Amino acid sequence: MVETKLAIDPAAHAPADAYKLLIGAIVPRPIGFISTISPEGVYNLAPFSFFNAVCSEPPVVLFASGARRPEKDTLANVRATGEFVVNIVTEAIAEQMNLTSGDYPPEVDEFAIARLTPAASELVKPPCVLESPVNMECKVIQIVDVSTRPAGGSVVFGEVVRFHVDASMVQNFRIDPEKLRAIGRMGGTGYTRTRERFEMARPRLSS
Ligand SMILES: Cc1cc2nc3c(=O)[nH]c(=O)nc-3n(C[C@H](O)[C@H](O)[C@H](O)COP(=O)(O)O)c2cc1C
Repeated sequence: MVETKLAIDPAAHAPADAYKLLIGAIVPRPIGFISTISPEGVYNLAPFSFFNAVCSEPPVVLFASGARRPEKDTLANVRATGEFVVNIVTEAIAEQMNLTSGDYPPEVDEFAIARLTPAASELVKPPCVLESPVNMECKVIQIVDVSTRPAGGSVVFGEVVRFHVDASMVQNFRIDPEKLRAIGRMGGTGYTRTRERFEMARPRLSS
């Protein structure tokens, strides 16, 4: 390889260093703001930036929870109930999203902590975040425990069974990014807005 690049063997370094490389390089990351409900009926809300879409038939999303003992409440709840809601994080609710990421015990309802409003979902028990303009009601289709080591993690795949989209932000299924104002996660404690964009058409190859 070229001299200007550092070759780093993750096996020779602490997992925390690999983590820093991952979150610094994979940017910006979308944020899945995940609502769940415990078997006892306690609402839970937490952000996950290891989050993305998988496919659209059926529409499937994924998020990854870092391994922890005991497991993060979100992961424990989706294992127990098989349901979650993804809420999209906008500039308007950025600080409230951050408030929910504290290490609260399972009996704490982060909707109350962040003063966000739970709105009844149609097909799943966990509520939508009313203040988020896009919500996706999901049923778990698979959970892959990739690694149970301290810095390991599990990936949750969920089928979107209902979308809710603010009517003022969508036309013919296309969401206006200027109106949505989603935020993304950078490395460390960094975030990005989605206000500066550019367009590129894909190459069309004639056969
Ligand atoms: C913007 C943001 C993104 C995060 N992304 C992740 C993630 O992808 N995976 C993860 O395990 N934790 C992530 N966290 C930390 C969790 O939100 C945090 O551990 C939270 O307390 C988990 O809540 P729970 O125990 O209620 O599930 C993130 C935190 C923030 C602020």
